[in-house]
Amino acid sequence: MQFTAGPDPTDLLTLPWSTALEDWPREKLVSLPRGISRHVVRFARIGGLVYAIKEISADLADREFELLRTLARTGIPVVEAVGVVAGRTTPDGEPLDAALVTKHLRFSLPYRALFSRRLDPNLEPKLLDALAELLVRLHLIGFAWGDCSLSNTLFRRDAGALAAYLVDAETGEMRDQLSKGQRMNDLDIAETNLAGELLDLQMSGLLPESVDPLETAVSVLDRYDSLWRELTEPQPMHTDEWWQIERKMRRLNNLGYDVGQIQINEDNGEMVLETQVVEAGHHRRKLLELTGLDVQENQARRILNDLEAYRTQAVMPETDVDEFTVARHWLTDVFEPVIEAVPAELSERLEPAEIFHEVLEHRWFLSEAAGHEVSMDFATKSYIESVLPFRPEEAALLDPTLMGVGSLDDDSIEE
Ligand SMILES: Nc1ncnc2c1ncn2[C@@H]1O[C@H](COP(=O)(O)OP(=O)(O)OP(=O)(O)O)[C@@H](O)[C@H]1O
Ligand SMILES: [Mg+2]
Repeated sequence: MQFTAGPDPTDLLTLPWSTALEDWPREKLVSLPRGISRHVVRFARIGGLVYAIKEISADLADREFELLRTLARTGIPVVEAVGVVAGRTTPDGEPLDAALVTKHLRFSLPYRALFSRRLDPNLEPKLLDALAELLVRLHLIGFAWGDCSLSNTLFRRDAGALAAYLVDAETGEMRDQLSKGQRMNDLDIAETNLAGELLDLQMSGLLPESVDPLETAVSVLDRYDSLWRELTEPQPMHTDEWWQIERKMRRLNNLGYDVGQIQINEDNGEMVLETQVVEAGHHRRKLLELTGLDVQENQARRILNDLEAYRTQAVMPETDVDEFTVARHWLTDVFEPVIEAVPAELSERLEPAEIFHEVLEHRWFLSEAAGHEVSMDFATKSYIESVLPFRPEEAALLDPTLMGVGSLDDDSIEE
């Protein structure tokens, strides 16, 4: 048996690799699977961590492992590939397929779980925005997915919106650059898959009447297209309109992208501004640098706004305090008291950054109702008493069609 792996895979050696995944003893698995997917996929818990294990031929496992690793290095949100187990045989010497092992993504939400316990009336547009953004990011780095669908994606809450993570890279191909035809082909596949999945949800009674599955599926095109154009299309500019450069940069930053290169070209006597987007995660990186908090992009944007509000309230305008000092004070004065106030038994409900976002929202509603600004302490207490206990646990939710139960029943799971 051969084990190709990333960091610290030793625990995985204790799993029963000489048995076909389908026949693994129940006690090794997180819960009893029952759904159909192309391959056998199971979840196993070892030492407080949950792993997803997919049985698949050795070639495909190696390929997918490499692709997932490459995508992760490029900063794309993907599940973390842990290793490939190949050369498996039964005790009688019968060969078994290889296995690809990935880490279960904490606080990730399979789309079926999102629909079956719908908390959000605007779920569909948020889901499609997240998926379109993921496709744009993949295409920008030259990755043709080949099988974009809701079931090959996991979602994470992101300040009221959703962030999409790629789960299944099996059909993907990495190139230097994608042609328009290659990108459109990926979008065609996405549209077909989405239409099927949404129709299926409709038949299960999980779509509201007002949502048309086909229209919703097609809308991925527009969502993708407007973002793609904003990020890549050259923009006409007049000779004396240098402020346009600043404005364009800000717009891209606001969308969450950092700009690497700016170029101004002459095109038939007209000036054209071209920007090259280097990386998504503009606010995320900024917040990480200031506070060490590693959160989703919209959560980071929200938190940076709060930090800015804190700075203007707390700091005399004429005193020259650097932003790192302000951020340190904000962490101890504002952020940490909220997170520390959450009782341990409620900590599996939402990620800390999402709880903080919801407390800010809650505070806004309370202040509106009271006609004056209520304190953060007051809003936190009220949120923990009247909102959080009624939220479902989301730390370790699994796809309900894959699993007998919707979530892990044990609370011994670590980050
Ligand atoms: N690391 C992970 N964390 C959480 N869920 C996961 C993980 N890996 C896989 N899953 C779940 O298992 C499902 C099946 O995984 P995957 O898509 O890789 O298998 P597949 O058999 O290739 O599926 P398909 O039917 O698309 O071919 C996913 O839809 C996802 O819900
Ligand atoms: Mg899949």
